[in-house]
Amino acid sequence: MIKASTGHTVMLACDHGYFMGPTSHLEEPRKTIAPLVPFADALAVTRGVLRNCVDPKWEVPIILRVSGGTSILQEDLSDEGITTSMEDAVRLNVSAVALSIFVGTAHEKQTLLSLSKLVDEGEECGIPVIAITAVGKELEKRDARYLGLCCRVAAEIGCHIVKTYYCEGFSKVVQGCPVPVVVAGGPKLKTERDAFELAFNALNEGAIGVDMGRNIWQNSNPVGMIRAIRAIVHEKATIREAEMIYSEKDKSNLISA
Ligand code: 5RP
Repeated sequence: MIKASTGHTVMLACDHGYFMGPTSHLEEPRKTIAPLVPFADALAVTRGVLRNCVDPKWEVPIILRVSGGTSILQEDLSDEGITTSMEDAVRLNVSAVALSIFVGTAHEKQTLLSLSKLVDEGEECGIPVIAITAVGKELEKRDARYLGLCCRVAAEIGCHIVKTYYCEGFSKVVQGCPVPVVVAGGPKLKTERDAFELAFNALNEGAIGVDMGRNIWQNSNPVGMIRAIRAIVHEKATIREAEMIYSEKDKSNLISA
């Protein structure tokens, strides 16, 4: 999941359907994922997508999304529980499990206790747990104080990696979190450059990588996007270099996966 030579990671997030349904550009997950998988250090999916849309021949570590229970039709997305057992995660041979926590919401306690249960179960069978700090409407609270609180709480409960969102003062979020942090991309940004800046700044401020979805596969050139992001994460590419990689045509074999 984490590339040993750089200590960094490009996780490809394709787990949105668990609450968003067949969201734009992820209607047929296999078609979306197939061209991108050679450039991902890990692939985040639910068990439904893993069973039905992921080719067992793809050599990519799997991060299994195991929380859910609400859809975008609900006003409050925070009412989540554990949707997939650790036994099934073991059976599916995944490399990690991931669950959302919703700090500061009505369901804070239930999601934090789910995290703690998952960590206990994961420790028993050697499966690391990724805590995801807030999705959807919770993103309105995207500042360093709030995200720093979420990340620290998750780390104290025992998760092994935290996935959170980039914000102003992000280095403070990382400094206050004793476990590695990866950043999500969030909804598609206006330009490719915005996404490159997000990844570049997050890495510079201490993230070990990205867990990015929509800014890659909702782009008209998804392979160009993931190759460019990969260069930022693993090769310290500048934003300008990332833009050049994005614009290259038919050179998808040039960057080693
Ligand atoms: C969806 C998630 C996503 O994995 C996470 O938000 C990263 O994807 P994106 O870069 O599209 O935000 O947790 O539930």
